[in-house]
Amino acid sequence: MQRKSRHALTLKAYDGEGFAGKTLRERGGTSYAFDKSGVTITQDGVERVFALTWLFGAGHYARTPVFKDGERWVEQRLSWYAATGKLSLTPGHPVQPSEDIERAMGVVQTPQNAARCFGCHMTGERAGVHCENCHGAQGGHPVAKTIRRDTSVAACATCHRSPSREYASPIPEVEDPMSVRFAPVGLVVSRCYLKSGGKLTCVSCHNPHTSVAASVSYDKTCVGCHAGKSAGTCPRTPDCASCHMPKSTPVPYLTFTDHRIRK
Ligand code: HEC
Ligand code: HEC
Ligand code: HEC
Ligand code: HEC
Ligand code: HEC
Ligand code: HEC
Repeated sequence: MQRKSRHALTLKAYDGEGFAGKTLRERGGTSYAFDKSGVTITQDGVERVFALTWLFGAGHYARTPVFKDGERWVEQRLSWYAATGKLSLTPGHPVQPSEDIERAMGVVQTPQNAARCFGCHMTGERAGVHCENCHGAQGGHPVAKTIRRDTSVAACATCHRSPSREYASPIPEVEDPMSVRFAPVGLVVSRCYLKSGGKLTCVSCHNPHTSVAASVSYDKTCVGCHAGKSAGTCPRTPDCASCHMPKSTPVPYLTFTDHRIRK
């Protein structure tokens, strides 16, 4: 089951999935034509072909090509979005039309930054997040009986991100709407987390080996700590998370679950 999880599928060699056959023309006149091996970018009659090497994202939210232009790592300007099935601007890239092909190509990443992308989306030399990433390699047998099981929030936050060390906003979703993408940031400032003595972790609600949809029942986890009637006016009706962990769309086409559990 882990093999089919989004953890395992979060990176692959570029094969054109979502991209091949699609074309797009920007307001400034730059045009893109994708195929199974790369993209042809045309501007003012000049044409350049880029071979794309990696495709980030399991495809549940989005996929973004990352490739090498000579010695430089580049994150492509266009991503594929599951919400629309279409190509649009990669989050964080400049909105204004590209002045030249160099810019249309995408954002150049420092070697350190590129290494970080792969660090969170790969396991050693293998694409995707696999057993050893969380359990450590045990002499080549990651699932030996002595398996290391770090169930702490910090273990998941090495990739899913924690609040900065200097400052944890009590209302991160207000101060930085994009922070809802980083589940630990909201969770660790929730009263549920702060007042339960470290008992609430990511694996209280998620089986890290399967997809979100196949995770344990969220309601059961909530009721495990909030049994009985409401002290106030909560109806305690099913799907607790729908009211207490609202969905939010901080950038077009990407919807996340706000992990700051609250009234
Ligand atoms: C610190 C670890 C980390 C780094 C560094 C990182 N990612 Fe991710 N990435 C994640 C996690 C965790 C998710 C799932 C949650 C989320 O969406 O942020 C994710 C999700 C994604 C997705 C799916 C779409 C989405 O927004 O959920 C894409 C595409 C992606 N990353 C590409 C990249 C690229 C390209 C880089 C480098 C420029 C990068 N990531 C750097 C951890 C990381
Ligand atoms: C994203 C991190 C992560 C990945 C990847 C991962 N595991 Fe786990 N695994 C955990 C955590 C955390 C626990 C403890 C779960 C708990 O206590 O609720 C665990 C528990 C286990 C257990 C104990 C039984 C159970 O299900 O609780 C086994 C066996 C196991 N993992 C095997 C594997 C194998 C085999 C792989 C690769 C195919 C793998 N894991 C990949 C994080 C991970
Ligand atoms: C590990 C135990 C635990 C789990 C699991 C848990 N909570 Fe809590 N929750 C707490 C504690 C402890 C408090 C603080 C109670 C207090 O303030 O006296 C709390 C507080 C709350 C509050 C009030 C927050 C506020 O800001 O005043 C809400 C709402 C809430 N929980 C809903 C939920 C929902 C919904 C779930 C499941 C998605 C959940 N909790 C899961 C322990 C837990
Ligand atoms: C109290 C329960 C609870 C806890 C604890 C929890 N989550 Fe979630 N998580 C949810 C719910 C509910 C969803 C939405 C599920 C759905 O849409 O079907 C979700 C969704 C997600 C998603 C999918 C993207 C999104 O935002 O919808 C990621 C990634 C995620 N959680 C990571 C984490 C990590 C990492 C932790 C630990 C910091 C964590 N979660 C702790 C309940 C929880
Ligand atoms: C090595 C980096 C890494 C670690 C460690 C890690 N994750 Fe993730 N996780 C990711 C990336 C990358 C994605 C985005 C997958 C995608 O959609 O492309 C992700 C996605 C998820 C999702 C949503 C996708 C789904 O399968 O539905 C959940 C839930 C999740 N992680 C929970 C956890 C938990 C719980 C832990 C800790 C036990 C953990 N992760 C540790 C990198 C990591
Ligand atoms: C239809 C929306 C909705 C649903 C579904 C819902 N709640 Fe609430 N809940 C609220 C509202 C509104 C409040 C604030 C009430 C108040 O301030 O008195 C609240 C307050 C709470 C509180 C803090 C005060 C108290 O009642 O102790 C907890 C804990 C809580 N809910 C847990 C849950 C759990 C567990 C579930 C699922 C079994 C759940 N809620 C389902 C709307 C909802």
